[in-house]
Amino acid sequence: MQSFTYHCPTEIIFGRGAENAVADKLRTFGASRVLILYGGGSVERSGLLSRIEKNLTSAGLAFLVMGGVCPNPRISFVREAIREGSAADVNFILAVGGGSVIDTAKAVAHGIANPNVDIWDIWTRKEELTKTLPFGAVLTIPAAGSETSDSAVLTNEDTGRKVGLNSPLNRATFAFMNPELAFTLPREQIAAGAADIMMHTMERYFTSVKEPNIFTDRVAAQLILTVMEVAPRLLVSRKDYEAMSELMWCGSVSHSNFTELGRMKDFSVHKLGHELSARYDSTHAMTLTALWGSWARHVYQDDAARFAQFAGAIFGIDAGTDEERARAGIRKMEEFFVSIGMPTSLAGLGIGELTKGTIEEIARAATANDTVRLGNFRPLTCADVVAIYEMANH
Ligand code: NZQ
Ligand code: ZN
Repeated sequence: MQSFTYHCPTEIIFGRGAENAVADKLRTFGASRVLILYGGGSVERSGLLSRIEKNLTSAGLAFLVMGGVCPNPRISFVREAIREGSAADVNFILAVGGGSVIDTAKAVAHGIANPNVDIWDIWTRKEELTKTLPFGAVLTIPAAGSETSDSAVLTNEDTGRKVGLNSPLNRATFAFMNPELAFTLPREQIAAGAADIMMHTMERYFTSVKEPNIFTDRVAAQLILTVMEVAPRLLVSRKDYEAMSELMWCGSVSHSNFTELGRMKDFSVHKLGHELSARYDSTHAMTLTALWGSWARHVYQDDAARFAQFAGAIFGIDAGTDEERARAGIRKMEEFFVSIGMPTSLAGLGIGELTKGTIEEIARAATANDTVRLGNFRPLTCADVVAIYEMANH
């Protein structure tokens, strides 16, 4: 097992009605003027936003509300919210929504705390991030895991880049997680969320680390199996409280770094996926399932035994050579993705077949003209990336 430091300071308040205590919790953390952020309107329609507003009003907390965060959240909205939040002198950011809203809240918190620095300079690491404002979340979708993660992802619509920022300052102060708040999710968002949660653990399972890591491997396998059990149930009945509870908790654990302890993360499929989201505004998890099988087939021979172990732990495949089991496991995983309605090739993203030139352009962007290697299971070169996109291009 490799050495590690694990610090996940987010206080989690989980269960039915959890969010009714949001004003109390805000007070506990010293909030007095709150900027509430939300997305495209689902929390207005469900009544959640007005309940939170009432909760804050009766607790005597001042607040400002800004809606309109879109999936694959944009830097322009972040800049506007930094301006409004700074003008109102807010001292806490509350995200009500999913990964897009929470990531926006993280960026807004960083921007308000660093008034003389452009947020994109922080994002692209031209400026070091050393301070932020506190922020918390009321989660409405089990998926991205931003409520407990140390990362956030933004799209700069001017440069066409979708970029993630990892920092200990990206950890939320608290996260309210009431599975009932996710009962209004459309089926495709449940499936996308489940796939993203699985990928957050799978991208930590396949790394270059060779030391054994029994406990973390078992945690990873059990988390993936749990998601594979409850996601189909939720596609039949999205108001299954027990199933939604499992999915929501798996989502937070999966991306909190807990499933990489003693190992590390790879996350190359995420990086390849972000390139497609930046260009085509594709749903995050759809880009991941569209590419994972091609990535796996391209690299598995570097450590077929690891893929064979995965096939055994997840699908009970234990007959055949490492190579045979590895390939069978990859095929089975793709079949699962298809069974919940997720794409396993680029065609499923509705972006048409990409030309050779486009693929090369995207691969060059992903690898900064072949100067950056992606991931570590096999550090991907520009040529690797081209091969993976080409394999998925049908
Ligand atoms: O905007 P509204 O109207 O709220 O609708 C949203 C949105 O259309 C809807 N939704 C959310 N909760 C709902 C609901 N609809 C009905 N009922 C509810 N209870 O779902 C749609 C997707 O929302 P979004 O926040 O975009 O989803 P998700 O949580 O999957 O977040 C995706 C974003 O997070 C990033 C992704 O790249 C993407 O930009 N990620 C963030 C990570 C992190 N910060 O750690 C890690 C991930 O790997 C990921 O990259
Ligand atoms: Zn993800």
